Amino acid sequence: MKTIKPHLVDTYNRHLNYLRVSITDRCNLACIYCKPDRCVPKLKHEDILSYEEILRLMDVVIPLGITKVRLTGGEPLVRKGVCDFISRLTALHGLQDVSLTTNGIFLKKKLGRIKAAGIRRLNVSLDSLDRNKYREITGFDGFQEVWEGLDMARKMGFDPIKLNVVVMRGINDNELLDFARLTFKYPYHVRFIEYMPIGVGESDHFFKYVPTSLIQDRINSFQKLIPVPRGPNDGPSQRFTFEGSLGEIGFISPMSHHFCRTCNRLRLTASGQLRPCLLSNQEIDIRGPLRSGASDQELADIFRNAALSKEAEHHLTPEHPLGKVSQMSSIGG
Ligand code: GTP
Ligand code: 5AD
Repeated sequence: MKTIKPHLVDTYNRHLNYLRVSITDRCNLACIYCKPDRCVPKLKHEDILSYEEILRLMDVVIPLGITKVRLTGGEPLVRKGVCDFISRLTALHGLQDVSLTTNGIFLKKKLGRIKAAGIRRLNVSLDSLDRNKYREITGFDGFQEVWEGLDMARKMGFDPIKLNVVVMRGINDNELLDFARLTFKYPYHVRFIEYMPIGVGESDHFFKYVPTSLIQDRINSFQKLIPVPRGPNDGPSQRFTFEGSLGEIGFISPMSHHFCRTCNRLRLTASGQLRPCLLSNQEIDIRGPLRSGASDQELADIFRNAALSKEAEHHLTPEHPLGKVSQMSSIGG
């Protein structure tokens, strides 16, 4: 029997203060790096946690030291009632940071309500600055929508606005400098993310991986990257800027530089499973106990045990794609 600690501390003494909450497995895009190879059935409405249930879990987990929450999907903005839910979330005492990772398609429509709900910063997926390429990657002609959404978000004072660019060889790696140049004109934080070959089975997707070192070399030969000191709430992104730029450049390297030693996250899936690691299939059911009358204390113990079962590190490498890991599309990255 493992010793239960009062807070969410794992066996490697990592303090888990960041909960990523996927509120839906549905998405209005079908990105080539995320969409399932095979058709994965969508969850039924009754299988996903209700907003009430998520808020109940928040009441349990905040006293355990969770201070940072990120809403993900699928695409979080497709779920009905999301802005009212965010308002209730940001009103909870004890959370210092509530944010959202979105594909940006519904930004223009929802920014007013997102801001009123208390969100101040946004992470937006944008893998190409070319309209046709964007459509090829996402399956939807939505570049202009996202671009105008970003414009509007900036004008409304969202800060920072982070652009997530999943770099894929032969697909968008010819746009690295175009993305880097954006930071001279706009205060965006452009983050180049190493493509993680997960949930792709036997397909050839893993050939798309481009190591951060290569991306950095290309950018450094365009203009020298200057390191930015880490902030207290920073995630895995290594941050840089350029002399005279308004924004930042970041590198997220889950493949070439595993950041497991400093991982401070737990994930709650839309179907109410706790995932101690993005890249492991291990899931701990909390929906069952929640729906069968578990007390706050019992739910807290489930969170603590999930923390204690977090593995030291993940085993994803470019040579060994994790085909059997559940789909990224429903975990929310
Ligand atoms: P910030 O709070 O702004 O630092 O957000 P973030 O970078 O943690 O979140 P975001 O949703 O923007 O994710 C950016 C990239 O990091 C995505 O490709 C995620 O899949 C990846 N990522 C986030 N958390 C983890 C993690 O725990 N492990 C791994 N391997 N990758 C992660
Ligand atoms: N590899 C790297 N990043 C990914 N994301 C989704 N799938 C992958 C993958 N296979 C990113 C998306 C989104 C973030 C939450 O996760 O770009 O911005």
